[in-house]
Amino acid sequence: MDLVPKSQIDMNKVKLAPSILAADFARLGEQVTAALEAGVDYIHVDVMDGHFVPSISFALPVLRAVAPIVHQYNAVVDVHLMIEQPDRYLEEFARCGADILTVHVETCPHLHRTIQAIRELGLRPGVTLNPATPLSSLEEILPDVDLVLIMSVNPGYGGQSYIPASTDKIRRLRGMLEAIGSTADLEVDGGIKGFNAAQVAAAGANVLVSGSAIFGGPNSIAENIAAFRRALRQ
Ligand code: DX5
Ligand code: ZN
Repeated sequence: MDLVPKSQIDMNKVKLAPSILAADFARLGEQVTAALEAGVDYIHVDVMDGHFVPSISFALPVLRAVAPIVHQYNAVVDVHLMIEQPDRYLEEFARCGADILTVHVETCPHLHRTIQAIRELGLRPGVTLNPATPLSSLEEILPDVDLVLIMSVNPGYGGQSYIPASTDKIRRLRGMLEAIGSTADLEVDGGIKGFNAAQVAAAGANVLVSGSAIFGGPNSIAENIAAFRRALRQ
């Protein structure tokens, strides 16, 4: 039996999740609005604590400012927690407007409890893992989550290069989700650009995070998003 089924991802349905980590914070509302106007489905919010990952980004006040804009467009506030002991803050993230809360398996000794707590708050629980953490660490929790995020860079910074081995990991995870009949999102985060977006989606991802390729560079946010859509259709 082929354990790696051919992906049935419809390229037109692949969702984009711009990461505001790469946005110009002096013009954050304007830039998030530009991405939403261009029709993106999710806005990805990268929270870093300087402990689990080396860098510190931003947290609750920024989320509180951005979430209402995202909700005006019926889009999804997708929060990626790169923090130690996330359980301490779940309620506050819910109060500040998160829709999806994704935690790292490496930070959760009681992962099942954490995932249940996120669901009890009325949010969609997600789980993620570092590039060197094996997919086997997800086996037991997979039926309980609404999203699995594959890190295709080591978390901590935007603008890094996609780790090529991630493609095979995506393929294997898609197989695991199909095997249990899960409809969870398979999201991929790190180093995704126009040139590799189609390959990542073809491997089985249905949500692509992108920071620098959407908010960076000389072109407008709308142009960058259009370029992603073109790349996915090719
Ligand atoms: C990395 C973050 C990513 C990052 C993606 O720790 O989780 O979301 O901002 O940025 P790019 O697309 O620039 O790799
Ligand atoms: Zn992220």
